[in-house]
Amino acid sequence: MTEHERLVSPVPQEFDRDDVSLRPKILSEYIGQERAREKMDLFMRAAKQRGDALDHVWLAGPPGLGKTTLAQIVAHEMGTAIHIVTGPAVEKKGDLAAVLTNLKPGDVLFIDEIHRLHMAIEEVLYSAMEDYKLDLIIGQGPSARTLRIDLPRFTLIGATTRTGLLSSPLRGRFGVELRLDYYNPDELAQIVRRSAGLLKITLHPDAALEIARRARGTPRIANRLIRRVRDFAQVAYGKITDFEIPLDIAKRALELFEIDVNGLDPMDRKLLLVMIEKFDGGPVGIETLSSIVSEERDTLEEVYEPYLVQEGFIQRTPRGRVATALAYKHLGIPPKTLF
Ligand code: ADE
Repeated sequence: MTEHERLVSPVPQEFDRDDVSLRPKILSEYIGQERAREKMDLFMRAAKQRGDALDHVWLAGPPGLGKTTLAQIVAHEMGTAIHIVTGPAVEKKGDLAAVLTNLKPGDVLFIDEIHRLHMAIEEVLYSAMEDYKLDLIIGQGPSARTLRIDLPRFTLIGATTRTGLLSSPLRGRFGVELRLDYYNPDELAQIVRRSAGLLKITLHPDAALEIARRARGTPRIANRLIRRVRDFAQVAYGKITDFEIPLDIAKRALELFEIDVNGLDPMDRKLLLVMIEKFDGGPVGIETLSSIVSEERDTLEEVYEPYLVQEGFIQRTPRGRVATALAYKHLGIPPKTLF
């Protein structure tokens, strides 16, 4: 199974295409992330009172938690447009210049995976963010000239899954820093109920909570699981489900999809099992794990590990990753004894 076929992948998948319709459009519809929401509300009100663009915002957190959604809400609430680009897709300075020169006053420029911008391109952002100026070099060799273009006051929202990887000159130019964290099951259950309502699916509250518990604290995964549970219920009952889906159907569906009570899927369990069976619980280096489970190091670090660490199944140590007693317990393996 690759990251692209995983039912509990927090990375957007082909089959998520109508996920967009489930995204909240205004801040008051956005569930959870209390601190981030309060801060955004405050800064947006202040900017609106001054009639100015919102300060640049740096948004950090694991994939699937609603960073793009929050940026879209900002543009919507500020009454401006949003321009979305992805760090690695900006290949030349000219690509960024084209986006910047198209901005209108107050617009939001959302750069996803901003930590993956090329260094030379990142430098273009410095004066754009600080002085709202774009320096372009026209021509080549001795006749080359620099052209300084004024940009409108805009808001850059830079999203990253990797806090540590942002260069300090870039980080220092953001006025607001927000971190999104995994949602707790109650918040996620609210999101599940909201999405189910929009999709015209009726779930028993216990079924909604069960989906929430197994969705790795991630709305994108929860929204995907709702649809798959609906498929299961529809086939199990032999008709379109226009009735309340009960807890036992949700549980049976999630078991069929091999998503366990903690939201771990076969790949998560494989990772823990490799650490325990091949390395006596660790420490084991990320490169070694990556080659054994045939998954890219970045994917392990950005997608799998954060949740396993957060839930206490693995610990990061300077010598590598270590499986915790909870991991042994979860897999039903007697913990190693110290002697
Ligand atoms: N969909 C994705 N993130 C959400 C959130 N925080 N609240 C409501 N719906 C969402």
